[in-house]
Amino acid sequence: SRTYRIAVLAGDGIGPEVMTETLRVLDAVEAKFGFNTERSVQLVGGAALDATGNETPLPAATVEACEQSDGILFGSVGGPKWENLPPDIQPERGALLPLRKHFGLFANLRPGVCLPSLTHASPVKNELIPEGFDVLCVRELTGGVYFGTPKGRENRDGEPVAFDTMVYKKSEIQRILRVAFTAAMGRGKKLVSVDKANVLASSVLWRETALEVAKEFPEVELSHLYVDNAAMQLVRRPGSFDVLVTENLFGDILSDEMAMISGSLGMLPSASLGAKKEGSDLYFGMYEPSGGSAPDIAGQGIANPIAQILSAAMLLRYSLGESDAADAIDAAVAKTIDDGYRTGDIATGAATEKKVGTQGMADAILAHLK
Ligand code: NAD
Ligand code: IPM
Ligand code: MN
Repeated sequence: SRTYRIAVLAGDGIGPEVMTETLRVLDAVEAKFGFNTERSVQLVGGAALDATGNETPLPAATVEACEQSDGILFGSVGGPKWENLPPDIQPERGALLPLRKHFGLFANLRPGVCLPSLTHASPVKNELIPEGFDVLCVRELTGGVYFGTPKGRENRDGEPVAFDTMVYKKSEIQRILRVAFTAAMGRGKKLVSVDKANVLASSVLWRETALEVAKEFPEVELSHLYVDNAAMQLVRRPGSFDVLVTENLFGDILSDEMAMISGSLGMLPSASLGAKKEGSDLYFGMYEPSGGSAPDIAGQGIANPIAQILSAAMLLRYSLGESDAADAIDAAVAKTIDDGYRTGDIATGAATEKKVGTQGMADAILAHLK
């Protein structure tokens, strides 16, 4: 049967809890669709720091396993236990960002889908979203202020100053815009480019470049919003958006907002993609929930596993080419929600809801896969 290699990096906090359930779902679709994944389970983040006596959050063996894989299934990293370590070895800066950079994963797709049966969990006025909504946020992931140099801290005139640099090469803007335009072509053909061109030089180049790349995609209707206005319009009229494209930090912030208006951060998966694999329409990628390790609920068995499960579906779709299995997972999740299964983050207390924990939600999804 078809065999693939994946690296499984559960990480910290709720990461291992939601990963366990996700691997059960993966087992089920493998059996159903006749393929199999060889899984290399590796340490990352705080878990790796603990295992190595605070030497590194990203052991060489982990990077090697990822290099030898067809794609990475990632949980989340970080937490209070590690946030006072030297910045370079903290889970986020020492593992997650280096992994994205190492594999050139410049395109982060974050689908913000509010299912019609979940509009009640959205803080947006329900009369504005009778059918729910479906927005795709395309976030640039390996540039901008996250990675720009100079970056640092020094003394000037007797006091500490700290600085980061927001920098974009034109080629970096072009390639992420092409990903976003291509995504828009496969959907509603509307693209909103989000920037701060009234203040930032990097945004002026971003907007100019968006207008140029638009000529390659005449069927797509391109518009621009300043990021502050975009944050506001997303709450006001989420249903009017199709695809959003923006730089790294703006995308980080807007995608959490998008997650919340679609019901919960626990629902939002993501795919971080690089270039296409040679001679193929598939990508090497890393797949992770848009949210984090949720230390406030970790260890209680109550985290919503859906973001992680849908991330696995994205892995199947973009890196393994198993799109039937990916569709089946998406459909099973939607049916499970329609049937009223709710983890705490999406529950309202209504009598029709079936209140479940992490494992119970996965059980319900598995039942719907059959
Ligand atoms: P967070 O995303 O972990 O949590 C924010 C809120 O959302 C919390 O109330 C949490 O309980 C809730 N939440 C998140 N996922 C949920 C789920 N699956 N089910 C139910 N509720 C869920 O953000 P934070 O608290 O700011 O960060 C915690 C740690 O996670 C930090 O160390 C941060 O750096 C890290 N982090 C890691 C990643 C990643 O690994 N990709 C992403 C974001 C944050
Ligand atoms: C995310 C996270 C990361 C980011 C952090 C943990 C470095 O918030 O994936 O959204 O800012 O990209
Ligand atoms: Mn984030």
